[in-house]
Amino acid sequence: MKSLFLLAMLMALAITLSAATSFEIEEAKSVIGGTRRFLSQSQRRVALTLTCDKNPKICLVKGSAGPDCCSNKCVNFSTDRLNCGRCGKKCSFGKICCKGKCVNPNTNEKHCGKCGNKCNAKGSCVFGMCSYA
Ligand SMILES: *[C@@H]1O[C@H](CO)[C@@H](O)[C@H](O)[C@H]1NC(C)=O
Repeated sequence: MKSLFLLAMLMALAITLSAATSFEIEEAKSVIGGTRRFLSQSQRRVALTLTCDKNPKICLVKGSAGPDCCSNKCVNFSTDRLNCGRCGKKCSFGKICCKGKCVNPNTNEKHCGKCGNKCNAKGSCVFGMCSYA
């Protein structure tokens, strides 16, 4: 009886030790592989275990698609055409999302052709190009 208990203890200890060791080896490998790899591995681990509806902070991790969370996906409200400014706000056909607002890049003087492309005071946006004619 006593030896059975001892055996069980030993096995538990062995399992704990081997788990710790393989984890340490993995960490050591990633350190050898450089910080970049270490970061991406830990990010992957975070992404596997956490979801943004429960842990919105995971969307702030470097390499995330954006800082905001919609239906469990990280998005960027500033530029996401399907979640422009807020979750589920879709930009209609032909429009793009700039700074959280749907705009028509063919005619918008502040976002002419693309986000942030401003036509100056004399120009107007025509077919997505600033025109000074
Ligand atoms: C979201 O998009 C804006 C505009 O492109 C960009 O400046 C910002 O860095 C993005 N945020 C993230 C966390 O990717």
